Amino acid sequence: MKTSDDFSRRLLIWHQRHGRHDLPWARTRDPYRVWLSEIMLQQTQVATVIPYYQRFLARFPGLPELAAAPVAEVMALWSGLGYYARARNLHACAGVVMRDHAGSFPQDATAIAKLPGIGRSTANAIAVFCFGAVASILDGNVKRVLCRHFGLPGIPGQPSVDRELWRLADSVLPRRAVGTYIQAQMDLGATLCTRTKPRCGECPLAGSCVALSQDRVLQLPESKSRKPLPSREVRVLLLIEAGRVLLQHRPPSGIWGGLLSLPELPEDAEPSAYAASALGCAVNRFETLAPLRHNFTHFRLTLLPLLGQATFLPHVAESAGQCWLARSELAAAALPAPIRSLLEAAFPELGRG
Ligand code: ADE
Repeated sequence: MKTSDDFSRRLLIWHQRHGRHDLPWARTRDPYRVWLSEIMLQQTQVATVIPYYQRFLARFPGLPELAAAPVAEVMALWSGLGYYARARNLHACAGVVMRDHAGSFPQDATAIAKLPGIGRSTANAIAVFCFGAVASILDGNVKRVLCRHFGLPGIPGQPSVDRELWRLADSVLPRRAVGTYIQAQMDLGATLCTRTKPRCGECPLAGSCVALSQDRVLQLPESKSRKPLPSREVRVLLLIEAGRVLLQHRPPSGIWGGLLSLPELPEDAEPSAYAASALGCAVNRFETLAPLRHNFTHFRLTLLPLLGQATFLPHVAESAGQCWLARSELAAAALPAPIRSLLEAAFPELGRG
């Protein structure tokens, strides 16, 4: 038997008994549902995704409903899941499929990969799961499995390493049961061949794994030497007026693009003076709340919240993008996860509703 057949055969047998068969998107060939799950699963674990996936489908059961919705509503349902460009692209993609493809996903992986927010691996996954294509996928989990199994040096994400990974992925791709096979690869990477605690004793590929035979499992895949991330501190205002809290729309791109957040104080600003001149509020006294830390891919952010009771100043117009929300409205608002945690800590009764 060719090594490539043996690789896929062992994975498929393993998957029958040990794969994740009960994932909510596992039993559908509906491209809308598969696409949504694949986008949510980028950089995000299954357990985090499931409730978002279910809420999203309850609100947007199909592509037409998603395409017709205001992007702000999509952002609100995505809030807390992170990597918000995914949500903006999702909405844009729904519009393109409605407009340019008569509401049906194209079936060919190359055409799917031209849609907003869909790269080669996601396009291939959709084409395989929904339209029976024979194509490899290469997400983070699969890259780790392949780097270890073939003892591949270099850092995944670098173009030459990714080229070699695509070649290796294609070299072990079976002709049959491709959907089950790519799901098996993802499941193996997520459950056994994990980054820090691989369970090689249970792995169906252990017999031919180069990293295992050379005792290099934890050294592969290679990773960039991690320099400490730069850090930034920012003071945010938590202004309350008659039970409502002041929020501001963030610009459409950049960190938390398109979401609602708390007003940020410019570096040298004095809080009361800023609240008066920029936000139209008088605040006599601020209480310093516990700082909250959040790591982005490229920097660490520390939020330093200042809580104050506000009264509106006469004759000062509200600035654009500013809105006062009642606590009961916060549950459905498009808030980034750290801001939601901060508000929950400040107002324990606030829930997701
Ligand atoms: N990660 C990416 N796609 C996935 C899928 N279909 N199932 C589980 N995890 C995944």
